[in-house]
Amino acid sequence: MDFYNVFLNAHKGIGYLVLLLVAVFTISLLVCMFGYSGKISKLLKKSTLFTMIAFHTQVLVGIPLLFIFSPGFKAALDGGILMKDAYSRHTFVEHPVSMLIAAILLTIIYRYMKTHDRIAMKIVIFGVIAVALFAYVFPWMRVFGA
Ligand code: HEM
Repeated sequence: MDFYNVFLNAHKGIGYLVLLLVAVFTISLLVCMFGYSGKISKLLKKSTLFTMIAFHTQVLVGIPLLFIFSPGFKAALDGGILMKDAYSRHTFVEHPVSMLIAAILLTIIYRYMKTHDRIAMKIVIFGVIAVALFAYVFPWMRVFGA
């Protein structure tokens, strides 16, 4: 197996884990938000930590995948269709950039949770934006096919 496939399979494998973690994070964030006290639960803190770590790992695997190994990215760059072709733009530009923004937002959220014990509206909004970006750029078709 070449390096491209090793990185792609690792990235895809961790992708399943991220899906699960994002689901737990979203549910615990909603429970906290609609809860009477707005107290940050242990589950919310832990799920934020693990989701953030998984996102950071994806960034570390994704950067060499994009800039060193991906034949699709190279072909799109060489052919001058990176931004013109919708598939290339979504896979090689929107996906990495949005996931990176989501990783930064999760880091801000986790840092907030380390020092506060009640949730704030701006943190809920950051969480919703992170999950929305993730859901928009996750390659659902490539992973679950159709
Ligand atoms: C939590 C964040 C992320 C998740 C869950 C995720 C998930 C995925 C999944 C499931 C695929 C499809 C794999 C396949 O079809 O076998 C993929 C492709 C890809 N991802 Fe990510 N990704 C994330 C972040 C990133 C980041 C930050 C980068 C780059 C900086 C990146 C770069 C890529 C590239 C370049 C591909 C396509 C490779 C190719 O077609 O040659 N990803 N990603």
